[in-house]
Amino acid sequence: QAIHLDAYRKPDYRIESLALAFDLEPEATRVKSRLQIAYDGSPSDLSEAALPPLWLDGDDLKLLSVCVDGTPLDETEYRQDATGLSLDVTSPGFLLEIETEINPKANTRLEGLYISSGTFCTQCEAEGFRRITFFPDRPDVMTVYEVTLRADKALYPVLLSNGNLVESGDLPDGRHWTRWEDPFPKPSYLFAVVAGDLACVEDSFTTASGREVALRIFVEHGNEGRCAYGMDSLKRSMRWDEERFGLEYDLDLFNIVAVSDFNMGAMENKSLNVFNSKCVLADPDTATDADYASIEGIVAHEYFHNWTGNRVTCRDWFQLSLKEGLTVFRDQEFSADMRSAAVKRIQDVRSLRARQFPEDGGPTAHPVRPASYIEINNFYTATVYDKGAEVIRMMQGLLGREGFRKGMDLYFERHDGQAVTCDDFAAAMSDATGVDLNQFKLWYSQAGTPGVTVTGEYDAAARSFELTLSQTIPDTPGQSGKRPMHIPLDFALLDPDGQPMPLKLACEEAAPTSRVLELRAARQTFRFENLDHEPAVSINRGFSAPVNLSIEHTPATRAVLMGRDGDSFNRWETGQQYATGLLLEAVEAGGEGRQTPEALIDALRETLLDEAQDPAFRALALTLPGEAFLADQMKTVDVDAIHIAREKMRGDIARALRDELLETYRGMQSNAPFEPTADAAGKRALKNLALGYLTASGKAEMWDLAVVQSRNSDNMTDRMAALALLTDRQGPERDDCLQAFYQRYRDEPLVVDKWLALEAMSVLPGTLERVKGLLKHEAFTLTNPNKVRALIGVFAAGNPLRFHQADGSGYQFLADRIVELDRINPQTAARLIAPLGRWSRFDGARQALMRQALETILSAENLSPDVYELTSKSLT
Ligand code: ARG
Ligand code: ZN
Repeated sequence: QAIHLDAYRKPDYRIESLALAFDLEPEATRVKSRLQIAYDGSPSDLSEAALPPLWLDGDDLKLLSVCVDGTPLDETEYRQDATGLSLDVTSPGFLLEIETEINPKANTRLEGLYISSGTFCTQCEAEGFRRITFFPDRPDVMTVYEVTLRADKALYPVLLSNGNLVESGDLPDGRHWTRWEDPFPKPSYLFAVVAGDLACVEDSFTTASGREVALRIFVEHGNEGRCAYGMDSLKRSMRWDEERFGLEYDLDLFNIVAVSDFNMGAMENKSLNVFNSKCVLADPDTATDADYASIEGIVAHEYFHNWTGNRVTCRDWFQLSLKEGLTVFRDQEFSADMRSAAVKRIQDVRSLRARQFPEDGGPTAHPVRPASYIEINNFYTATVYDKGAEVIRMMQGLLGREGFRKGMDLYFERHDGQAVTCDDFAAAMSDATGVDLNQFKLWYSQAGTPGVTVTGEYDAAARSFELTLSQTIPDTPGQSGKRPMHIPLDFALLDPDGQPMPLKLACEEAAPTSRVLELRAARQTFRFENLDHEPAVSINRGFSAPVNLSIEHTPATRAVLMGRDGDSFNRWETGQQYATGLLLEAVEAGGEGRQTPEALIDALRETLLDEAQDPAFRALALTLPGEAFLADQMKTVDVDAIHIAREKMRGDIARALRDELLETYRGMQSNAPFEPTADAAGKRALKNLALGYLTASGKAEMWDLAVVQSRNSDNMTDRMAALALLTDRQGPERDDCLQAFYQRYRDEPLVVDKWLALEAMSVLPGTLERVKGLLKHEAFTLTNPNKVRALIGVFAAGNPLRFHQADGSGYQFLADRIVELDRINPQTAARLIAPLGRWSRFDGARQALMRQALETILSAENLSPDVYELTSKSLT
């Protein structure tokens, strides 16, 4: 059942061209395909008897006919099973014609061709194309597509596919047709079709070399006013890719379609990106600043795939990070350039720690390039995407920006139009710069987050400082006894004023003030000379390597790093580490612990009031480490004590800084109309951070501020911030505010999702019961992935206190929903399993209950491979 990287074999046959014709009908769509096929083996085995059979993948298809060179095959000439079709081949080149019938309306898995709110759309990555027609559905089979679409003209006035529109016309019976040609060879996973009654917002972009590109965003009628930000993000992405990487768009049109039922965020189909409406539609009344930022990043991500993914694609799905890690890195760099780079980096590291580190430390840990899988959809993970992006970032760190750009240029020069591997990418980087990446490539094959321990010793008499680094790579399922990795650590030594000191190594003359220390052995020592003060060690600056760093600071060096490090990431990080240590101490003491030390309060006050700092940075620096992060630092998680300790510290800070917080809350208010800029968003973030503390200060009237803000603000960011506070507070205001919010937005599906999520993340004791009740609410449906994630996903992954309540009812609730959803949409069901997989981190009673919930899932009948794979791995 499992597929292995080692078992890769080149395909036997090449597809020289493909023509597809669709007669679109909701319950019986006919698909005719014509494939020009050629044997791709060596000419020496071209004796006819030796031609291997041709394998075509197929899933849930009704086969109507198969013809070879115009002659129908009889049933002895092919073999069909539930996974596809095997044909006997008698000639090295032939025309294959296949007709199939599919039922898009019954397609609740949202893979292949399905219907979302009356619009036909497709999702083919990774293996959805085989649910449309029989085809060698693997990324190393690339061909040119010609697509003809026929459908009812009144119901489906818009008919789209990849590439250029070459012809269209009317048909009898109120039908019409269009024909599309995509000149760029592509794998089947990039194929797309959309047909519906959609509104269109149009703009254009002129590329660096003067190509006029028509840009269109298609949306349901009524959503035209929510496209402006997505369109602007697209244009900025197109310009950025030209400037940073010299990459231009290659067709005369670029289409985006927003659909409301979608398993993931968006999909980079060639010239026809399909988006989850949540990831592209925005206006101030319905989208938060976080939504705007995420839209900007996702629009860029999908656009950037045109080169990293489409022009150069993956040889096989083990290489998924070749396109995803690289494209995430590119979208991160883009957002960093559009906004505050420091803030973006902190946010990305927070999300890496929240999603990828636990994966790396849990039962489904896998390398960036996995070695085997049962269901590829389960490998669209934080490891492949986000750790994969960190691997690319480290390469850029080792090669320098210029070297990295040379490597990218060589990669495209060598591989444009090809399906390649992560090794090919690393080879281009290495060949373009002469940097040896052999040890570095262990980042692709060894799972687990490396631990790096840093110790330092200052010798005042010798004026020298000795720094010792050691690394350990934890064992992960199926992998033990790992080799030391090549870990680039950005590094500086700071004097008491926070100024970087010259870093003179004993063996070298040069003394730069910052260096990349390359840790390659299990343990390495560096000795720096000519230092007049005991330095504060600023290491892994900008989070240059995705490792767990352990380093002790003295109160004095901590104060230098927290208050003066020129690397904002480390300034933030040092504060977080300090608060984490204090909180974990309090947790050990059962939650309450001692009074929060003045040193922390003073540092926070200084940051809060430091007008030289970006408000967005100040908001992050004042945010205490989250409960999930704290849990990850514990051997045995105590959800209740963590909650108590964190709330206690919040209260201490709020009371100590109340005046400053109130002043900040007022100072960050603005009367200007809402703008989604990074600047304005940063002010709102700091204002809402202040509001959060104020409500934690124990003064009841502070809650009035939240109530007023939830009702009267002119934008969703402020409304949601206030409601997120209110949802944790028992009482009539809470229910009134949430009720008023629902009534106001009941016809806006994306806002209703926010409302469901607010209920799901409440720390109040009755939350699980309310969540259960909401399953039956008119606003909820299991068939829409956004709704599932908003209610069930947020409860399980975003509400540790209630999900882990001691009686295990949260676990059983989740298990039942997963089984129920697996019959509708296995891919989305599988994504809900992870919180149960963390059982080994909890106390014995919870462990038993969590395993029992996993057993409940495993004992259900007809489990999908998606849910089976993750559940069974979670139990070992
Ligand atoms: N390639 C898409 C993106 O990252 C994601 C598609 C995921 N599809 C899936 N079936 N898992 O932009
Ligand atoms: Zn992607």
